[in-house]
Amino acid sequence: MSYQVIARKYRPQVFDEVVGQRLITETLKNAILQNRVAHGYIFSGARGVGKTSTARILAKSLNCLQGLTLTPCGECPSCREIAAGNSLDVFEIDAASNRGIDEIRELRETVRYLPARDRYKVFIIDEVHMLTTEAFNALLKTLEEPPPRSLFILATTEPHKLPATIQSRCQHFAFRLLDYAEIYARLEQVCAAEKIQADEGALGALAQAAEGSLRDALSLLDQVIAACGEQLEESRVRQLLGVVPVRLLREMTEAIHAADARRVLELVSQLAAEGYELAHFCGEYTRYVRNLMVAKSCGGESPLLQVPNDERQGLRELAELFSQEDLARFFQILLRTEGELRYSLEPRFHLEMGLLKLVHAGKLASLESLLGELHSAALGEKASVTPRSAGAPSPAPPAPRKAQESASSQPPPTSTAAAPARPYALPAEAAPPVMEDSRLASIKALLFESKKLLSSCLDHLSGWRFENGEVRFLFAKNASFYAELVRSREQLETLRSACTQVLGQPVKIYVTLEEQEGRPVRARPDARERAGRDPAVEAFQKKFDCTLVDVKDLSQE
Ligand SMILES: Nc1ncnc2c1ncn2[C@@H]1O[C@H](COP(=O)(O)OP(=O)(O)O)[C@@H](O)[C@H]1O
Ligand SMILES: [Mg+2]
Ligand SMILES: [Zn+2]
Repeated sequence: MSYQVIARKYRPQVFDEVVGQRLITETLKNAILQNRVAHGYIFSGARGVGKTSTARILAKSLNCLQGLTLTPCGECPSCREIAAGNSLDVFEIDAASNRGIDEIRELRETVRYLPARDRYKVFIIDEVHMLTTEAFNALLKTLEEPPPRSLFILATTEPHKLPATIQSRCQHFAFRLLDYAEIYARLEQVCAAEKIQADEGALGALAQAAEGSLRDALSLLDQVIAACGEQLEESRVRQLLGVVPVRLLREMTEAIHAADARRVLELVSQLAAEGYELAHFCGEYTRYVRNLMVAKSCGGESPLLQVPNDERQGLRELAELFSQEDLARFFQILLRTEGELRYSLEPRFHLEMGLLKLVHAGKLASLESLLGELHSAALGEKASVTPRSAGAPSPAPPAPRKAQESASSQPPPTSTAAAPARPYALPAEAAPPVMEDSRLASIKALLFESKKLLSSCLDHLSGWRFENGEVRFLFAKNASFYAELVRSREQLETLRSACTQVLGQPVKIYVTLEEQEGRPVRARPDARERAGRDPAVEAFQKKFDCTLVDVKDLSQE
């Protein structure tokens, strides 16, 4: 028997074998049970996540000669032909190579005739977004008046490219990327069935490299088996995949923590000498920092950590070395560096500069702690103009009027004791924005692995706010496209659960365009004056030698 690639050999044959798409398979099973299968479906999602497999299973369930079923027999001529892709009544069309009107006309011709043998004529159109406009129009006519016993399954990696008219005629199922654990488990099963010995690290490296696509995972498995035979070891597999050893990622992180620029450069040099593609390394390191951030905010046991179990301990320990703000800043810098590397003629220099930025970023004091210091300094000054020992001359510059008033109208001890937990003259909502940023970065990082689209939509935010259990994401008017993407029910739900994770409480999500929010309310005229006299603001101006340009009253926004 000729060799069949693993990805094909292990194509799921019944709904329950499809990994990670339960919501979809259960809905389809119900539709079959209730005899309410629609005429048109859109199956969207990345490559290799089960769209074609599910389409074929649906076709078999409808056409199995044993009768309408949730578990097609796989033995009858109908099931077999569908599995082999040569059924008379189930057509698989690749729209990427049959884009034109002629193909769709031909299809419309075919649709008009009843199925040759089976109960349903099924058309599975792959990469359907590639069709030309005329072809879409022709297809639309068919979808508007679907012949009895016909079913269209439109598979696509880019559903937003489908005309709205087509979308509205179909039920839409969005296939999700599979997560690390799901891919790992499937690889384990397949290896057992194929009698392949693989250590945990080897499967882990494969599962990570697959980036959510089960087909990619199985194809990579095929490749490493071809190279290594029946015994898969982590180091060899990583080498074959061009995956950077965890040891190197860890050493890089330690060097950055030690602010050892020289070691960082040595490591880059080592990577270059060993032939690693530097852009690829940067991507891997970004992912590593993302994992550090997850370990930091959700703990080392979190299923959101997409790593083999034996890496968890190491990540947890390393994460301890950094603050959440550090990691958020690293993540941002690396994302930018990764983008630059892609177009760079001198990737090595870019990578070096990017990593050196991390070394320096680690040394920066966080804005929160700086503001905290300024506050205590300012409070100290304030305390010194409300002396406990009467008559002591005040060495401090004139305190703000409010402080002076309270100093004169109230006994001194209460005026210092009354210093509230948040000693801002401005409303409490004016909390330092950086704190918010690091949480936003954590949210993005959580989504980065498996929800790239959503994560990258958040790059276009013009602002965000978290208050009273409500998170508001603000998009500028010219970014309304991204706002729309985020607003879809599924994305909102994903975003909500990521926010809940990071913010540590259940939240409601609002996505708004700036216009809808109205212009920010100008601060009341005296706000500027008041702000200028705020001890913290004064201290800040002095420390950084700067002036106050604008004051926004956040309490009124
Ligand atoms: N959800 C899944 N469950 C089980 N196997 C899958 C899944 N997704 C992909 N595969 C594997 O990848 C191969 C290709 O999957 P396919 O359904 O053709 O992906 P798509 O059509 O989404 O690109 C299958 O033969 C199977 O081995
Ligand atoms: Mg496919
Ligand atoms: Zn059958």
